Amino acid sequence: MLKEVTATRYVTPLREGGSLPGIVEADDLGTYVMKFTGAGQGRKTLVAEVICGRLGQRLGLRVPELAVIALDPVIGLSEPDQEVQELLKASGGLNLAMDFLPGSLGFDPLAYEVDPAEAGRVVWFDALINNVDRSWRNPNMLVWHGDLWLIDHGATMIWHHNWKGAQASAAKPYDASDHALARFRPDVAAAAAALAPLVTEDVLTAVAAEVPDEWLAGEPGFETPDAVRRAYVEALLARAGSIHERITLNAPSTPRTPQPPGWLTGNGKPWPHPARTQTTAKGDEQ
Ligand SMILES: Nc1ncnc2c1ncn2[C@@H]1O[C@H](COP(=O)(O)OP(=O)(O)OP(=O)(O)O)[C@@H](O)[C@H]1O
Ligand SMILES: [Mg+2]
Repeated sequence: MLKEVTATRYVTPLREGGSLPGIVEADDLGTYVMKFTGAGQGRKTLVAEVICGRLGQRLGLRVPELAVIALDPVIGLSEPDQEVQELLKASGGLNLAMDFLPGSLGFDPLAYEVDPAEAGRVVWFDALINNVDRSWRNPNMLVWHGDLWLIDHGATMIWHHNWKGAQASAAKPYDASDHALARFRPDVAAAAAALAPLVTEDVLTAVAAEVPDEWLAGEPGFETPDAVRRAYVEALLARAGSIHERITLNAPSTPRTPQPPGWLTGNGKPWPHPARTQTTAKGDEQ
């Protein structure tokens, strides 16, 4: 089961995250990145964090430890930022906590090399969960103690926004051309051979069981939280066996090296190119 902790102090917002996650301290003396049920993205992103994060861990991928965190909005009363106040007020009860990795750096594909085997495992996993949020623009990976860590599995399993189309959605391909690790020649076939057999009904049932009932209750079309859990298990199980055949990895995605603007280089621009050319010419004459 997921560890359960209680938030004791709101430390600071993480403004780089679209859902305004916050760093909090908890009663186990741990420091966590907290994601809120009251955020605009809704509670399904937290369900996705639990199911995908815990599944990733079971597949041997590095995902920081997850916990369910109880919040009494009173801890935010002295928080000066109104947006944060409102988020805390809207999020009383159970929220998601991820172990904070102190001193970690955001993954930079130009500064950190990933071997094809590891890149393959991450790309295959992202294809399985249909992660649309691990592009080179927004890698959602951290480097910590020299290792790659996966974070932010909120934008995955698109089918849970339309359960009626879940089966058809699970059969769809996964375009990994824009994936942050696409340029590292991911060995997806080896990853599929190693990881797909681990995605069993038992494992999926166990990770789905870790989602708190209150994040699943009242889902339209389902009688009980367990019925929703079952739907997650079936969708992922249907995808695990053959998703590697439907991964597109067209042109290796090369992060664009920042280029100086045209007006600076003079490329194709009449101004101030001529002036710069004159200066250069003068310099050449000397
Ligand atoms: N476990 C962690 N340890 C350290 N820093 C973290 C951790 N989790 C998240 N962060 C930092 O917080 C930022 C936002 O986190 P995250 O991407 O999970 O939030 P989000 O709101 O889902 O973001 P997005 O805008 O990508 O949807 C990350 O880019 C990273 O800098
Ligand atoms: Mg993110």
